[in-house]
Amino acid sequence: MTDWVKAAELGPLRERKKLKVTVAGEDIALFFVEGSVYALRDICIHKQSRLSRGLVFKGKVVCPGHQWAFDLKTGWVDQWAKCQPVYPVKVEEDVVYVLMQPQVRDVEPAPHERFCEAG
Ligand code: FES
Repeated sequence: MTDWVKAAELGPLRERKKLKVTVAGEDIALFFVEGSVYALRDICIHKQSRLSRGLVFKGKVVCPGHQWAFDLKTGWVDQWAKCQPVYPVKVEEDVVYVLMQPQVRDVEPAPHERFCEAG
């Protein structure tokens, strides 16, 4: 069974660059960066600030709570070696879908898996 669920129209996300949506009861932060869409759980794994209120900088979303910087693709935060859950995304006919199977890493992503190489 696939669990792709409509999360948003692409137009408003493209315009605002980030969007908080609720999908199947889960708050998800969507980001539109360099032509691609990324989806992370909105509630930060640290102390529950909202990543949808964070700033995007160099391929990472910086949490407004305590400035942990999560890689948009992997959810990985280098300074603490922890991971925010991320959702697979697809865009079809200007509609954003997320797969309701969040992924959480327990090992550091390889450079090619990240939004941009660490460093
Ligand atoms: S609440 Fe996100 S870094 Fe602390």
